[in-house]
Amino acid sequence: MNQSKNGFEDFKKLKPWVEENKEDYYELMAYYKCAMMEVETKFHVLSEEYSLLCERDPFTRNPIESVRGRIKTLDSIQEKLQRRGLELTVESIERNLDDVAGVRVICSFPSDVYRLRDALLHQDDVILVEEKDYLAKPKANGYRSLHLIIAVPIFLHDHKKMMAVEIQFRTIGMDWWAQLEHIIKYKKDFQDSEELRNRLLECARASFRIDTEMEEIYNKSLDMRRAEN
Ligand code: GTP
Ligand code: MG
Repeated sequence: MNQSKNGFEDFKKLKPWVEENKEDYYELMAYYKCAMMEVETKFHVLSEEYSLLCERDPFTRNPIESVRGRIKTLDSIQEKLQRRGLELTVESIERNLDDVAGVRVICSFPSDVYRLRDALLHQDDVILVEEKDYLAKPKANGYRSLHLIIAVPIFLHDHKKMMAVEIQFRTIGMDWWAQLEHIIKYKKDFQDSEELRNRLLECARASFRIDTEMEEIYNKSLDMRRAEN
């Protein structure tokens, strides 16, 4: 994490902007929150259904470990717009950013990522805007996840509004790795040390080997149980 960053300082700096744009800004953020809740609910519904299926069929399991939503903070919004040379206005936030509302779905095994992606994209109110598959093609640092940008409707009292939501699908192992990498990536000692970066890359690979091996063991044990029945 960037040590020079201080949430309170950011808040003080952005306070006049918030004062000036209060109504429109809070309205837009409320819409993003609604969209985030819509998507979280979609996965809670899927999780509920998978749990039901498990009760009926011992050979099925619930691929969803957890679902976490977050709304981007104003200082992250401001930082991202500034990095791209864009102005900080409420219209600019909605037009240029597609990750103000974010949902992270943690699953058990690598194949669950695609299973859940398909289950979501089959829903007729979900529009796929963009897909980045860092599972099929991990980033150079070792990062793995499947990212989708979708547009979902939120139903307001007199109209429907389409909102962008970023969804990240990853296994527990990938999430553990990404959380550590996120904490240390801005640290100078880490950036300066090729050895540490290589060791972290090796952790990503080792973790993926374990993910794949565990899925294979699970599937083999399932085959054995099926054969016994
Ligand atoms: P930005 O949205 O500006 O970040 O660029 P982008 O749209 O090309 O980003 P991308 O879709 O690759 O990543 C979006 C989000 O995924 C980030 O905000 C992070 O939450 C996560 N992410 C992407 N790459 C990494 C990474 O190398 N390490 C970690 N820990 N998270 C990452
Ligand atoms: Mg992005």
